Amino acid sequence: MNIGIIGAGFIGGALARPLALLGHRITIANSRGPHTLGAVAAQTGARPATIEQAVHGQELVIVSIPQKAVPGLPKALFGGLPVELPVIDTGNYPLKANKP
Ligand SMILES: NC(=O)c1ccc[n+]([C@@H]2O[C@H](COP(=O)([O-])OP(=O)(O)OC[C@H]3O[C@@H](n4cnc5c(N)ncnc54)[C@H](OP(=O)(O)O)[C@@H]3O)[C@@H](O)[C@H]2O)c1
Repeated sequence: MNIGIIGAGFIGGALARPLALLGHRITIANSRGPHTLGAVAAQTGARPATIEQAVHGQELVIVSIPQKAVPGLPKALFGGLPVELPVIDTGNYPLKANKP
């Protein structure tokens, strides 16, 4: 499966390696660009990429960035993608966010 991960920190990196070992093709991005992801690529087997590449052409997208950074992602990042594309956010959203 093609899996894109936005966020290459503790959680994104921790997910990338076992998923790659399982045979999935992992594309990983951070805020500073693919040229900063050499060590992560070497440790996990993931392909360094831009956030757009980590979303487009993927069969599953994992968002693993600080919650406060989510609203700052490009508004059109997920535009034009299949509505059935699964997107998993590893953030721990507070329950109060669910109140009307
Ligand atoms: N750590 C835990 O035990 C844990 C457990 C459960 C859930 N979570 C949640 O999982 C998420 C990630 O946690 P973490 O501990 O992995 O964080 P982290 O180690 O601080 O890593 C954050 C990653 O997000 C990237 N990032 C930040 N802003 C970005 C942006 N605008 N666009 C693209 N990439 C961006 C950072 O890239 P740069 O370094 O290039 O900025 C970095 O690779 C958080 O929501 C956290 O609450 C964490």
